[in-house]
Amino acid sequence: MRKFFLTALVIMMLIPLAGVFAGAAAEDGAVTIGANIYSFQDNFMNGVIKPELERYAEEIGVEIDIVDSEGQQAKLNDQVDVYITKGVDVLAINLVDPASAMTIIEKAKKAGIPLILFNKEATEAGAMAAYDKVWYVGTNSAESGIIQGEMMVADWKANPDWDKNGDGVVQYVLLKGEPGHPDAEARTIYSVKAFTDAGIAVDELALEADPNWSTTHGNDKMAAWLTASFGKDIELVICNNDGMAFGAINALKAANVKLPLYGVDALTQALQHIADGEMNGTVLNDGVNQARATLDLAKNAAMGKDVTAGTSWVLDTDGTKAVRVPYVAVTPDNYQDF
Ligand code: BGC
Ligand code: CA
Repeated sequence: MRKFFLTALVIMMLIPLAGVFAGAAAEDGAVTIGANIYSFQDNFMNGVIKPELERYAEEIGVEIDIVDSEGQQAKLNDQVDVYITKGVDVLAINLVDPASAMTIIEKAKKAGIPLILFNKEATEAGAMAAYDKVWYVGTNSAESGIIQGEMMVADWKANPDWDKNGDGVVQYVLLKGEPGHPDAEARTIYSVKAFTDAGIAVDELALEADPNWSTTHGNDKMAAWLTASFGKDIELVICNNDGMAFGAINALKAANVKLPLYGVDALTQALQHIADGEMNGTVLNDGVNQARATLDLAKNAAMGKDVTAGTSWVLDTDGTKAVRVPYVAVTPDNYQDF
């Protein structure tokens, strides 16, 4: 009889533990999220997404651990292994290399842990279909380029003096973000396409990609371009993000040159540059809502619920299993609203 009680006691003690190890702890609401940021050096990820992940996690009562992948995919792969060993309920992952999603998806699948990818969309064909518990939170990359392009076209038409040499052609330079990053690729194409769609010819004087989307790079490139043979011909500066735009603004100021300049993200510093007349526009990349959607989906997935249950997020129906937060144009007329 005593033995029976002891056995029963042991079983009763093990039941809740079994739940923890199976990642089902989530049922009682105690969700643990293993997250990363691809690089804490990134203005947008570190300045907007990370603080909101931390703040919103508290608001909705989930535990979140956020590590720095330092721009190294191999480091992220190891960090994911550690999270899986620790038994987190769900993973929220910002890929370093958008072409390495499959490695992470396979790890999550093998461990049976749901996975939310955010900010860097998987570029490998079939990656999202490889696991029923992987989703993406980000944006429609092309939309940012289209909005930036439309802003530039409207301003170009309204300011005939921007066509310095009066040839009717836009002589531009473009600071591109990380090559292969869906946002960088789409912004580069669609921002310029807006001109050609509007029947305005363009002439690309220079284009330079920066894997780090960084201010330092923006500064160095812009400074070099201003002293290049075509330096005096530049009529427009297109930046795939605000971080690089800030660097370009520094270089322009240092050279005492004023040129129309556009970014993407709508960081606080960009709003200040617009107020100061040093930037002509940016596009709100709504990191606050991207962070919230990431955590809402993660919490639901960990609790075995429909990922959008009880939220206003809507999943794409085109097989990408994505929540895409809209971009918004930010101009000298409306920047005060942001
Ligand atoms: C942002 C960039 C950022 C990148 C990081 C983009 O959506 O616009 O500022 O560097 O994401 O992946
Ligand atoms: Ca011209």
